[in-house]
Amino acid sequence: MVRLLTLESTCDETAAAVVTDQFEVLAAVVASQHQLHERFGGVVPEIASRAHVERILPVIDETLRAAGLSLSELDAIAVANQPGLSGSLLVGLCAAKALAVATGLPLIAVNHLQAHVYACRIAAGRDIFPCVGLIVSGGHSNLYRCLGPTDFTPIGGTIDDAAGEAFDKIGSLLGLPFPGGPAVAAAAERGDPARFRFPRPLRDDPERIAFSFSGLKTAVRYQLCALTGVSPNEPPPVDRLSPQDRDDIAAGFQEAVVDCLIAKAQLALERSAYKTLCVGGGVAANARLRERLEQMARDREYELHIPPPSLCTDNAVMGAIALERYRAGKFASLDLDIYPGLER
Ligand code: KG4
Ligand code: ZN
Repeated sequence: MVRLLTLESTCDETAAAVVTDQFEVLAAVVASQHQLHERFGGVVPEIASRAHVERILPVIDETLRAAGLSLSELDAIAVANQPGLSGSLLVGLCAAKALAVATGLPLIAVNHLQAHVYACRIAAGRDIFPCVGLIVSGGHSNLYRCLGPTDFTPIGGTIDDAAGEAFDKIGSLLGLPFPGGPAVAAAAERGDPARFRFPRPLRDDPERIAFSFSGLKTAVRYQLCALTGVSPNEPPPVDRLSPQDRDDIAAGFQEAVVDCLIAKAQLALERSAYKTLCVGGGVAANARLRERLEQMARDREYELHIPPPSLCTDNAVMGAIALERYRAGKFASLDLDIYPGLER
């Protein structure tokens, strides 16, 4: 049996897992940094990398203990080295290299975005390729034609903010806890999505597989100001907002984002001629998005894969994509670098 230790530190979660070549998860630990970033309303890269430094070894220790394994019982060390925040990526990569040197085990590079789609493969327990991949997270909102686990062609993405980033910003505008995604989703469940009709940027443009969420954010801010009589130049008027107004805004905003994601996923499927859609990233944990995707898949007879929420948000289990490279003998050398940017 092959056992991989996988490390994930691309953004603000420090995570490790031990997975087997049968996709058995022997242990998985995620140390979240949400509390550290909460008062800034977003992830602060310098704080994130320092927190990774403090947490990475305890997280690895805890993972090995939970798996009941020592380092010598592993077969390889995998690490997400792209894309992500530079400092955060470096911490995971340095830890992985140190372990590889100390144990003599091979090192395997993981692309974090490909891993988000691979979470669908793990959850499905069978092959999912070829498919259209929709990755919606705090840093990315992209569509890919995925021929195989590591063979992705970008076919469109956001021209400004990522969907998760928009959720986080609207959360802070509405005075909700960080990260905004789960909090806005919870508020939206209590709200009326039809009360405020926010714009759906690019949704109806049949030529472009693209998203834009920054204008939507501005529209929400102006609506908030109109409701409370506060100028857009002043700080968000959280205390003047009634819970019902807040929840209705959250519901209207969420519906607008979901409409855009659904429209472009559909366009990507039509253009690619693939019949399978795989969705990953933190925003894929959103219950309304999941419901609407399921409805679309039923209506249009697509095969849909969305992992359970714990495999949507950042985790190290999805690093099991490294098994594909392990089987192919594609190991990284010890001069492996980080690649913070997108396509490589
Ligand atoms: O994939 P992820 O954990 O990290 C990145 O790679 O960015 O995604 C985090 C993002 C955050 O913006 C968070 O607010 C959002 O996913 N998110 C959600 C939900 N849960 C997490 N957005 C909407 N609804 C949710 N239930
Ligand atoms: Zn992610």
